[in-house]
Amino acid sequence: MCGIVGFVGEEHAKERIVEGLKRLEYRGYDSAGIALPIDGRIEIRKHVGELENLEKIIADPTFDAAAGIGHTRWATHGAPSDVNAHPHGNQDNSIAIVHNGIIENYQEIREWLSTEYGVRFKSDTDSEVIAHLIGIYYDGDLHKAMNKAVEDMKGAYAVCAIAAAEPDKIVAVRKDAPLVAGLGNGCNFIASDIPAMLKYIKEFYTIENNETVVLTKDDITIYNEKGEKVKRDVLHVSWDADAAEKEGYEHFMLKEIHEQPKGISETLLRRLDANGNVVLDGISMSKEDIEKLDRIYIVACGTAYHAGLVGKSIIEKLVKVPVEVDVASEFRYRDPFVDDRTLFIAISQSGETQDTLQSLREAKAKGARILSVVNVVGSSVARESDDVFYTWAGPEIAVASTKAYTTQLICMYLIAMYMGRTRGTLSQEDHDRLLGELKALPEKVEQIFQSEEKLAYLAKKYQYKEHIFFIGRGMDAGVAYEGSLKLKEISYIHSFAIAAGELKHGTIALMDPTVLVIALATQDGKIGEDSLYDKMVSNIVEVTSRGARVIALVKDGMEKVEQISDEVIYIPRCADEVAPVLSVIPLQIFAYYVAKERGENIDKPRNLAKSVTVE
Ligand code: AGP
Repeated sequence: MCGIVGFVGEEHAKERIVEGLKRLEYRGYDSAGIALPIDGRIEIRKHVGELENLEKIIADPTFDAAAGIGHTRWATHGAPSDVNAHPHGNQDNSIAIVHNGIIENYQEIREWLSTEYGVRFKSDTDSEVIAHLIGIYYDGDLHKAMNKAVEDMKGAYAVCAIAAAEPDKIVAVRKDAPLVAGLGNGCNFIASDIPAMLKYIKEFYTIENNETVVLTKDDITIYNEKGEKVKRDVLHVSWDADAAEKEGYEHFMLKEIHEQPKGISETLLRRLDANGNVVLDGISMSKEDIEKLDRIYIVACGTAYHAGLVGKSIIEKLVKVPVEVDVASEFRYRDPFVDDRTLFIAISQSGETQDTLQSLREAKAKGARILSVVNVVGSSVARESDDVFYTWAGPEIAVASTKAYTTQLICMYLIAMYMGRTRGTLSQEDHDRLLGELKALPEKVEQIFQSEEKLAYLAKKYQYKEHIFFIGRGMDAGVAYEGSLKLKEISYIHSFAIAAGELKHGTIALMDPTVLVIALATQDGKIGEDSLYDKMVSNIVEVTSRGARVIALVKDGMEKVEQISDEVIYIPRCADEVAPVLSVIPLQIFAYYVAKERGENIDKPRNLAKSVTVE
């Protein structure tokens, strides 16, 4: 999604802004630009494509200033192009703006501006109207003009503006799009996200909806909707900029895959007291709140939704409350049964996913209690929830989510265990057994990394397959969806996941020797007629007898599967309930190496963005 960076200090704004934009590359973008107030006018330079293109046209040392704004754009209105790139100027380029979000009534405003003021538009974007609105209201006070412009705007926006006549000031506003101000020494920053500023500073102010911010080199002043000054606590961030770097790995995705043991430990240990009991520090749900619940919705998108599928299994098993999992873009339009006995769990790495956020608001308005599982501290989902259960994955840069998923799973277990104990549906003995299983996971994930070479070999061998199916039963089915998404989003191979028992109702028609099936069969806890493992063995035979090649994914000790599969991947032995945390790791690594073999842009796959802040 679009990224915004603004800097105001004494000099070298260009360098700071470009550095910030580089840090925001992970959000996905198709063009980039920068605007600086130079010699009484605003100079805007922008270019379609990678940041390198922009860097070439701003290399000139005379193009620099003490303040400025920059942007990476992810097209929504108007194709990716130089003119549609941000910043946008008003008629005489005395004002420039960068914008993240969508101005819903931009066509109306465009018509009004061209009829009333003869404004001629240069771009096809919705954003350009903001520069012109500020331009027509500007009488020497940028803050005042921004406030007036906002009155005309409908939609979602984070906007930063500069004016040629006030070259030492940035004015910004936010409504339903992320914005954070950064507190420097003799300089200040504003950006869509904390990593954009981490190289220079560690202290931040979150900006809330409908607030405006005025930044000079010495001050950051936040105003609420009524124009009153707001006092905000400083947010101290302990990550350093290196945490967002690759640390020797070829790609962020591989680095983040390898960070999973640490992320799992952190997420787990921060929620355990000295006696090993789950504590929900900072979460205000009382025993009564938990006891009165009669329905739980888990709502999320993409990978986070897949974490919800596993969450449903574990919560229903331990808490004995019906759980529905829904993709946020469906939930928000289906008028679900929600009341004050409903718990709504939003899962989101970024905490800025528009569909998830809107679903949350919908559920909140109907009286549900909102608990979110979020990675980005201070994000919109976190701020609008009653309670937040943070994942401690650290910044996730690769578009393909890996460590966010496994830490989301850990949160699902902890929430289920806590609620199960509170409602008396989980015995202390089962609680302790499960906790032991969870604590053993980081070490077991490390063991899986020893199979990386084999997974790279399998990736090389099967990289040319045009169709890859992922099948599984029970909790394995949820992981199959995630494995399939991982593969398709970075390798661009057509891939499809299905509950293995569903195969015979249609999809089996596609099985032939050209197809590869990845069969997850980790659920071997139950023996006998109901054993999911035995059912999976039958499913594997069903597809191999039609010529499909099979890679089976099983626990150590299930070597028999070698007789019916082309290849077998093993994960360490563990309880069935926690197997999803382990079984997803080989699938992530396989997807990574397939994409690498095919020479794809692994960290920034085509058409995708890290944080999807549009509907
Ligand atoms: C997964 O690899 C994708 N990046 C995507 O499905 C992602 O999980 C989804 O867009 C939700 O994002 P969120 O967790 O930030 O809400």
